[in-house]
Amino acid sequence: MRERKGVFVFMGQLHIMDHPLIQHKLTIMRDKNTGSKDFRELLEEISLLVGYEITRDFPLDDVEIETPLVKMTAKRISGKKVAIVPILRAGLGMVSGLITLLPVARVGHIGLYRNEETHEPIAYYFKMPQDIQQRFVIITDPMLATGGSASAAIAMLKEHGCSNIRLMCLVAAPEGVQRLQKDHPDVDIYTCALDEKLNENAYILPGLGDAGDRIFGTK
Ligand code: PRP
Ligand code: URA
Repeated sequence: MRERKGVFVFMGQLHIMDHPLIQHKLTIMRDKNTGSKDFRELLEEISLLVGYEITRDFPLDDVEIETPLVKMTAKRISGKKVAIVPILRAGLGMVSGLITLLPVARVGHIGLYRNEETHEPIAYYFKMPQDIQQRFVIITDPMLATGGSASAAIAMLKEHGCSNIRLMCLVAAPEGVQRLQKDHPDVDIYTCALDEKLNENAYILPGLGDAGDRIFGTK
C-alpha cells in the first residue's frame, strides 16, 4: 500500500473505464469492419476521456485572482510536470488526445516490438525529456497482452529515475494485468476493458486485433 492525499490505497490498482461513451466507442473499434480512419479518431477521443480520469487526483493549489467583479481564491494545478510516453508504434495513437488535455506535457518515446515466436519485447528506441525523473509519467499503449512490453517500458523508465508512473491502455488481458501487478505493484493501470484471455499467439480475446496495424493500416 502507499499513501496518497493522507489515505492509503492499494498499489497497482486496476481502473476500468466503464463510462458509456468510452464503451460505445470501444465497441466500434473492436468491429473488424471499422477502418483505420475511424479507428484512429476513436482512439484519440477515448484517450482524451481516459486522460480526464488519469489526472483526477492531480493536486491543486490556491491562487488569488480577480474576476471582473471581485477578488477570489481559486484553484490551479500545482505545477504538475507531465510526460506522455507512448510505446511505439501503437501507443502513438493515444498521444494527441492526451496532449489536447495537457498541452504543455513533454513527450518521450519507447520503441518496443514483440518477437513473433517468443512474444518477448525487443527494445529499439528510447528518448526522454531531460528532466523525466521529475515528471509524472503516463505510458500509453492500447494493448496490454502478456504485459511484457509494458513491464519492460516501466523498468526502463525506473532505471532513468522515474517513480511516478501510470499506464493508460485500451484493452487488457488478465495475464498482462497480473504480470504488471507482480513486476510493478506501484503502477496504476487505466484500461477501458478487461478481456477474457490470450490466444496461442498471445493476442487478446476477444480483443481488437493488431492495434498498430489497425491504426496505421499496415495489413
Ligand atoms: C503490441 C502492442 C503492445 C504489445 C502488447 O505492439 O501495441 O506494445 O504488442 O503485447 P504484450 O503485452 O504481450 O507485450 P507490437 O509488438 O505488435 O508492436 P507495434 O505496436 O509496433 O505493432
Ligand atoms: N498486440 C496487439 O496489437 N493486439 C493484441 O491482441 C496483442 C498484442
